[in-house]
Amino acid sequence: MSEKNPEVRTRVVHVSAASRSYDVHVGAGVLGEVGAIARAAAGGSRCCVITETNVGPLYADAVEASLAAAGYGVAERLTFPAGEEHKTLATLGALLEGLAERELTRDDVVVALGGGVTGDMGGLAAALYLRGVRVVQVPTSLLAMVDSSVGGKTAVDLAAGKNLVGAFWQPAAVVADVRCLLTVPRDLLVDSVGEVVKHAVLADPALLGDLTGRPLVAGEPDEARLVDVVAKNVSIKRDVVDADERESGIRQTLNLGHTIGHAIEAASGFALGHGSCVAAGLSVVARASARAGWCPDDVADAIVRCVAAQGLPTGTDVPLDELMRYVAHDKKRHDDSVNLVVPERLGAARVRRVPLVDLGALVAHDLEGADL
Ligand code: GLY
Repeated sequence: MSEKNPEVRTRVVHVSAASRSYDVHVGAGVLGEVGAIARAAAGGSRCCVITETNVGPLYADAVEASLAAAGYGVAERLTFPAGEEHKTLATLGALLEGLAERELTRDDVVVALGGGVTGDMGGLAAALYLRGVRVVQVPTSLLAMVDSSVGGKTAVDLAAGKNLVGAFWQPAAVVADVRCLLTVPRDLLVDSVGEVVKHAVLADPALLGDLTGRPLVAGEPDEARLVDVVAKNVSIKRDVVDADERESGIRQTLNLGHTIGHAIEAASGFALGHGSCVAAGLSVVARASARAGWCPDDVADAIVRCVAAQGLPTGTDVPLDELMRYVAHDKKRHDDSVNLVVPERLGAARVRRVPLVDLGALVAHDLEGADL
């Protein structure tokens, strides 16, 4: 196992969601601390690591050694096939059967080790098994570190759409080791930066400026900067989740860029990465907002410049009628309107109820004018 980098201070971000408080530990080389962190946060005597076929071989031995060193009896790990196409009720059922076969009790702990799919499914298995056991999230992708491992959303997909079955189940702790990002393929890492830019637009103009001047994925990996950026993103998400765990208000702003982004993603048959689609959706909605007078032009310009600097798309070539067909299927649709998150200034966004026909007209303008 790679040693902790003593020159990079581990950051601890405390989350106080309505249903549970916990710490998110962000560091470089901190996988070896998962056991001690789980022991302090979750207690229990046995644990089981849930992971997938790509991540398990890289990190599960190290995590299990750390759990054993902290005094846990470590049950045989549960590994499912990697990929969103396996985020199903069938895989969830197999995980639940696996926990039962290993005779985990309500005092024991599930450790979800992997990217967003693993966090979603491991978290949901923990929420359901014996009506709820503690889960420690160990995200290994940038998307999972800055977004899905924090805030307690867990889910699987149905044939009718993504994340249609799930639960809010907050973890007992989160351990994010940025060194795991060094094994992530570059294009996947760049893709995830879409959500980082979104957080910066929502709450941290200084971070937006910093990312524009120095793209996150460029040159040699800088562990200290990665820890800093991940911790800032976790703090931004924490502030939102603390205020509105169950998405009845401000948490909806985390969907900035997602209405158009999800439509682009669905139109691509999910071949385009989620973060790239969010980045494109963010750019489209920023320009549309400037055109509608909901935000100043320079706000939209700053957002699009930051997206472009990361090497992410700032528009889409999906035809308007197809795009709007997918938007019309959005979960946030109400009758003939959609709840659209729009930037107001750098560091602030709001939800607007926008008639689909008006959104179509704004986006039509954008698709004509965009430099694709
Ligand atoms: N990813 C959006 C949320 O957690 O609410």
